Amino acid sequence: MKIILSTLLIACIILISSCYYDKEDLLYGGSNSGPCTDSTGAVSYSQKVVPVFQQLCYSCHNSSFPSGGILMGTYTADKAIGQNGTLYGSINHSVGFSPMPKGMSKMTACQIATIKKWVDAGMQNN
Ligand code: HEC
Repeated sequence: MKIILSTLLIACIILISSCYYDKEDLLYGGSNSGPCTDSTGAVSYSQKVVPVFQQLCYSCHNSSFPSGGILMGTYTADKAIGQNGTLYGSINHSVGFSPMPKGMSKMTACQIATIKKWVDAGMQNN
């Protein structure tokens, strides 16, 4: 009986801790569990920015379907909205901008910080 109970207890602990890590992923937005590491060091456009845009933005903003007249999906287009301030304003839900991604929850603090860092560093094509 004791063995069954402790086995159950261990199973519960494993379940709870795996939930914890899932939540952590949601909170920090890392592709792997743990704190936000995507925004440390230089932020790579191709490796850190594009995957997020692909997941959350390109379905509505692309060359054949530029929602709201906003084009995304190429380095030049993505850089243009970074440069004119609408990219950060919209993902940060700043006053005066349409909150993006439209109809979805706000991006994680880590995703926003990562994109802000790319913008602040001059939107390198790296
Ligand atoms: C479901 C479709 C959809 C998704 C997903 C989406 N957008 Fe938009 N976006 C729109 C529409 C439509 C507009 C036009 C303004 C409006 O209707 O709110 C817009 C407007 C914008 C603007 C202009 C905002 C302004 O205030 O000038 C920017 C910049 C933008 N989107 C960037 C993004 C980014 C970055 C993402 C991903 C994080 C994203 N969008 C995801 C549909 C979408």
